[in-house]
Amino acid sequence: MKVTVVGAGAVGASCAEYIAIKNFASEVVLLDIKEGFAEGKAMDLMQTASLNGFDTKVVGVTNDYSKTADSHICVITSGIPRKPGMTREELIGINAGIVKSVSSSLLEHSPNTIIIVVSNPMDTMTYLVHKTTGLPKHRIIGMGGALDSARFKYRLAEALEAPISDVDGMVIGGHSDKGMVPLTAHATRNSVKVSEFLSDERLTQVKEDTKVGGATLTKLLGTSAWYAPGAAVSGLVQAIACDQKKMYPCSALLEGEYGLNDLCIGVPVILGKNGIEQIVTIDLSTAEKAHLEESAAGVKKTNGLLEL
Ligand code: 2OP
Repeated sequence: MKVTVVGAGAVGASCAEYIAIKNFASEVVLLDIKEGFAEGKAMDLMQTASLNGFDTKVVGVTNDYSKTADSHICVITSGIPRKPGMTREELIGINAGIVKSVSSSLLEHSPNTIIIVVSNPMDTMTYLVHKTTGLPKHRIIGMGGALDSARFKYRLAEALEAPISDVDGMVIGGHSDKGMVPLTAHATRNSVKVSEFLSDERLTQVKEDTKVGGATLTKLLGTSAWYAPGAAVSGLVQAIACDQKKMYPCSALLEGEYGLNDLCIGVPVILGKNGIEQIVTIDLSTAEKAHLEESAAGVKKTNGLLEL
C-alpha cells in the first residue's frame, strides 16, 4: 500500500509521521516543491523508525511526480496556511491554482488513486478537484469533519471533566468557523447524552469553542495547527488502506443527501477500500438542519469564487 502526501509543511509532515508510526503502509512518498525539503523531512522521519518501531518506508522528493506512481491514496496538503486573523476562505486564490495542478499531476501517475484534500478552504478545494478531474465521487474526500470532531471531543471531555475515551461526538457541515455544525444533541458520554451532564449554556460554549478550534490555535501558534490535522488525515488513510468501514464526517459531493446538491460539505461517511462507500444520512433537529443549510450556503458562496 503506497501513499503520497503532497506538501511537506507542518501538516503534510505530521500526516506522513502518523501514517508511518501506525505501520500499515509499505511506503509514504512525501513531495514538496522546495528543493531538498521533503528529502530532509523524510530522512529525519526514517531516523525515527528504529525508535518508534515502524517499517513504513518514507521517501522525500522535490516535485518529481514520477516517484508517486501507483499510489493507492494521495493526500493534498499543499498551499499556504492561514495566518492569525485570516479565514480559511481568504486562501482560495492561491490555493485553487495549486490544488488544481497538484491533482492533475497526481492522476497522471496514479490514475486509480483516491484523493484526500486537506488544503483550505477545504470544502471548496474538494469541490474544485471534483470539477476539474471528473473522478467518481467516492474517490475524492475532504478532510475537515474528522479534525473538527476530534476538537469537539476535546472540548466535551474538558467540560465533562471526563477522559476523552468516554466521549463520542461528531461535527458536520463546512470546515469553517461559521460553517461547522457540532452535533451536541447526538454527543454522548458512554452512550448517555451529554445534555444529562451539561447545561445548555455550557453546551453552547463547547460548540462555540469547537467552531473556532483552528482559529484559536492559529492565534497561539502564529500559523495553522498540524498535530490534530495530521492525525485526522492518517485516520482517514488508514480506514481506506485497511478497508475498515469506519465512519468519519468527511467532505463529500452531495447529490440530494440532506436536501443538498452540487457542493462538497462534511457529512458522515463510511470509509473503506473504495474510498467513500456510503454517505450516512442521520436525523437532524430543526435547528441542526437550519445550521447545515446555512453552512451549505456559505460553502456555495466560496465555491462561486472559483474560476471553473
Ligand atoms: C485547521 O483547522 C488546518 O484547517 C486546518 O487546523
